Amino acid sequence: MCGRGPMAPHRVVDELVNCMFRRLLVPLDSSPHARHALAEAIDLAKSNNARLTVMTVVPEPSAWATLGAIDAPINLRELNEQVEHAYQRILDAAVETVPQDLSVKTLLKHGAPGAAIVDEVTAHDHDLIIMGSRGRGELRSLLLGSVSRHVLHESPIPVLVVHVPGDQS
Ligand SMILES: Nc1ncnc2c1ncn2[C@@H]1O[C@H](COP(=O)(O)OP(=O)(O)O)[C@@H](O)[C@H]1O
Ligand SMILES: [Mg+2]
Repeated sequence: MCGRGPMAPHRVVDELVNCMFRRLLVPLDSSPHARHALAEAIDLAKSNNARLTVMTVVPEPSAWATLGAIDAPINLRELNEQVEHAYQRILDAAVETVPQDLSVKTLLKHGAPGAAIVDEVTAHDHDLIIMGSRGRGELRSLLLGSVSRHVLHESPIPVLVVHVPGDQS
């Protein structure tokens, strides 16, 4: 419906929610948390007739190329390409889980993930971000990862942080 015609009073809240969230942005890493967030986003997109954009951010080389002591000489360009492909596969796998009758777009960005997500919703029309509470990071004691925390603090639009049920880690 979304604003077309008069509405029974008890439907107003339903309609409000349905109409507010028509363009959903789902930032993804390769974690089960992000996959769970995508499943929630797909459910919401079905009931709201919403469009999905799945987005992944390839971290800057400085975040991974200098990890630990690497003895063997490494080909940075090759490593870069492999990392890029790995992130592209995250998007491909995500699209495969989206039912055919839903509209889905993909975005591959580079940089600091939190900042890139906030830049995207600042520059383009999205109504709601749906993301995992945590990601691939190893700090299991934290309720929120650094990317989800950054986005919650900085996003100009609403953020839905999905927690994996029963996750005690
Ligand atoms: N590189 C990334 N690109 C897009 N989204 C990401 C990226 N990394 C994390 N996210 C999103 O942020 C959520 C929380 O992950 P994060 O804050 O990185 O936690 P952790 O610190 O445990 O890795 C993920 O479930 C995913 O939705
Ligand atoms: Mg992370």
